[in-house]
Amino acid sequence: MITKPKGCHDIYGMEARKWKYVEQVIDALMEKYHYNYMRTPIFESTELFHRGVGESTDIVTKETYDFVDRGERAMTLRPEGTAGIVRSYIENKMYGDATQPVKIYYNGTMYRYERPQSGRDRELTQFGVEVLGSDDPMVDAEVISIAVNLYKILGLKEIKVNINSLGDKESRDAYRKALIEYFTPHIDELCEDCKERLQKNPLRILDCKVDADLDLLKNAPTTLDYLNEESKNRFEKVKEYLGVLGIEAVVNPKIVRGLDYYNHTVFEVEAKVEGFGAQNVLGGGGRYNSLVDQLGGPETPCMGFATGIGRIVLALDKEEVELPVKDQVDAFIMYVNEEEKLHALYLAQELRLNGFAIETEYMNRGLKGQFKQADRLNSKYLIILNSDDLKENLITIKNNQTKEEEKIDMDYLIYYLDEHVEEEEALHFGHEELHECDDDCDCDGHCHHHEEER
Ligand code: HAM
Repeated sequence: MITKPKGCHDIYGMEARKWKYVEQVIDALMEKYHYNYMRTPIFESTELFHRGVGESTDIVTKETYDFVDRGERAMTLRPEGTAGIVRSYIENKMYGDATQPVKIYYNGTMYRYERPQSGRDRELTQFGVEVLGSDDPMVDAEVISIAVNLYKILGLKEIKVNINSLGDKESRDAYRKALIEYFTPHIDELCEDCKERLQKNPLRILDCKVDADLDLLKNAPTTLDYLNEESKNRFEKVKEYLGVLGIEAVVNPKIVRGLDYYNHTVFEVEAKVEGFGAQNVLGGGGRYNSLVDQLGGPETPCMGFATGIGRIVLALDKEEVELPVKDQVDAFIMYVNEEEKLHALYLAQELRLNGFAIETEYMNRGLKGQFKQADRLNSKYLIILNSDDLKENLITIKNNQTKEEEKIDMDYLIYYLDEHVEEEEALHFGHEELHECDDDCDCDGHCHHHEEER
């Protein structure tokens, strides 16, 4: 038997419905924030990720799927979405658009050759947003709030937002120097990779998976001690704006992120629920003000984040959140002979094109078997066709719950269903779901609830 590649999943049945629901909520939320949907290629030139994600990151050194195409070009399956978006922003000269900043979202598969475990896959689906062209700390707060609001709307309760600042170039350089000074006397305690990282990019030592438990790492200097005044003030603004949005963020100086492009704000949102596993980070991101010019574009401040759809669904399952997804049809059309079948075929199309979810018989079952099949498919109504009735343009319609049935004129069927079948609720998220304000609320009186009180 040929099996799926390691670290990949077949997503089907109710699980697939959950994924689709999460993606529908994302699309609806992005409409409200007015971020534009964008698709970029699943593979790009290898060079893009080396220069974009960073030569010394685990992602680039150990985790990319690289291949040489038939034209001898070095290609890589994208391990993340930001580098491709930035490449496209430059190539399509979006920096020249009148409407700045450029606000983008994407949702697609990414590929990382990681050691698979629950929540860590080789093929993963990421929803991400990128705001290109604004340095306003309000953007940092907005991007973080998108992540938080998404998780809350979906029903997750146990989340924790960790933020940190890596500062501007001057602060990062000072921090880099401090890390080299700190680690150099202990170089022998570090793993082989970290020995190399020490000169190339000492920040990467801090998120080394091998050395993670060393006290040496735990006691290392933190970024916050090396922020210059400007970077500190900027970080304060981000925190103030998060407060206005009612987002409680914990400053965690251990958050340095595994990709090279960040400066200033970085953040990660964790799921706290028991049993979520080692991969408890739902999503993360930060500011990357140098990436556009590093990749050949004009200097452009940017901010973004990404979250794995698989991890969200896993967290929802662990928190036992019931999503409004069901496998149900409005009506099942039943027939036994060929003449009735022709009517069934026509009627099914007619009703589907009028907005109803319709099933019918495809397996040549008798009536008894069709009743059972209709139950298995959770059909709300049964439409029973019968040659004699059809001569008079009549059909039987039966409520599959109450078992009440009546004979009606076929021409009246659409109106009948319109009246009787409950419409699926449109996706809607109210203020309460987004922000449950309480007395400890961090909003400084800016939230809806407190404003009403005043
Ligand atoms: P990242 O932290 O590498 O950031 O990935 C973001 C999210 O993608 C993770 O928090 C996780 O939910 C999901 N993810 C990552 N790797 C895996 C995996 N192997 N299996 C399952 N899920 C995974 C980025 O990718 C940045 N591009 C985020 C960003 C956007 N920063 C600025 N803009």
